[in-house]
Amino acid sequence: MSSIDLLVTNARMTDGSIADIAIGNRRIIAVERNITAASKHVLDAGGRLVSPPFVDPHFHMDATLSLGNPRLNQSGTLLEGIRLWGELKRHLTREAIMERALAYCDWAVAQGLLAIRSHVDVCDDRLIGVEALLEVKKQVSPYLQLQLVAFPQDGLYRSPNARQNLLRALDMGVEVVGGIPHFERSMTDGRTSVTDLCEIAAGRGLMVDMHCDETDDPMSRHVEQLAYEASRLGLERRVNGSHLTSMHSMDNYYVSKLLPLMAEAGLTVVPNPLVNIIIQGRHDTYPKRRGMTRVRELIAAGIKVGWGQDCVLDPWYSLGCGDMLDVAHMGLHVAQMTSLNEIHHCFEMITQVNADIMGLDDYGLARGCRADLVILNARDPHEAIRLRADRLAVVANGQVVATRQKSDTSLDLPNRPSATDLRWSFSR
Ligand code: FE2
Repeated sequence: MSSIDLLVTNARMTDGSIADIAIGNRRIIAVERNITAASKHVLDAGGRLVSPPFVDPHFHMDATLSLGNPRLNQSGTLLEGIRLWGELKRHLTREAIMERALAYCDWAVAQGLLAIRSHVDVCDDRLIGVEALLEVKKQVSPYLQLQLVAFPQDGLYRSPNARQNLLRALDMGVEVVGGIPHFERSMTDGRTSVTDLCEIAAGRGLMVDMHCDETDDPMSRHVEQLAYEASRLGLERRVNGSHLTSMHSMDNYYVSKLLPLMAEAGLTVVPNPLVNIIIQGRHDTYPKRRGMTRVRELIAAGIKVGWGQDCVLDPWYSLGCGDMLDVAHMGLHVAQMTSLNEIHHCFEMITQVNADIMGLDDYGLARGCRADLVILNARDPHEAIRLRADRLAVVANGQVVATRQKSDTSLDLPNRPSATDLRWSFSR
């Protein structure tokens, strides 16, 4: 075994097994029981859950931490949020965006969130958001993987120079193509924008991540076009549909046709439960739609579904703290994914599945993977989500970047069964 820089001992893996994890030269070099080789540093996990880091495949880092500036969103709707962001945009500076984004990255890392896909608005001709987040990406790269999406917030065609600005942003190094077809002036423009953006991505060999059908309108069906273009252009597994909230309200027969088309196209999906649950249904009296897309049905159709954060303290969402366990907790409630197997899968959604959606190919706790991990004050994924467990230590790129003493929510309470015990007793 090559030289070990950091040895994490007594790690409980997500499958319940215990192992030591050896890290050398910023990579995981062994995951075995009782590693005896010498190490410069040792971190004893004490039998607690050790997970690959959390991953957020949907965020808006140019808007984060701007809550109340210049005013609050009174209606709570998507449309007022977009108007409010438009008011703020005129007064933004590159430095102010960087300061807020870097502060959020500190929050994220402290909570074991080490990879983020962030949309960046390209509708301001100055492109200072793009400049700022490209610089942030460079500065945080030693400990956080930041992937940027060129996002025409005010509409690819509805905003005068958005298409040209989007191409400029891609030329500057933004690596994913975004869109917002439901905000264009007409359904036809929306559909055309999906085709246009997918062709741009195909021509440049890029991934696509589109805000798609973020509405309660059952007739907003741009996801069908997105699946069609992914198949036509050979973009399978490189196209993600974010939100897809209209699917909540669609006709059931139509959805039964749509799901196999999405699966065939290799589309991935990212709902954003914290935000979907408060933005959607705002025009309803009662019954009031909850608006989140059909997560269980999408998964049952063989479609890869992750969970995204979307917003923290911005014109659309006045809460949030960058904790992906919070996101999974809300997601499983809204999707009614409350069996122990489904709760376990929700943990996978904020780790491995989200990493797959972002295309992170050296992610995980296997030999050869990038040395990123988090030690949680929990015994298993169920307990981690239930308690939104403390992150006791975070290792990023082979370095310990955050530690925390465990809080009073102790694991040492006597006679309290863990989910593993419960599963065992149920199966008897
Ligand atoms: Fe979003």
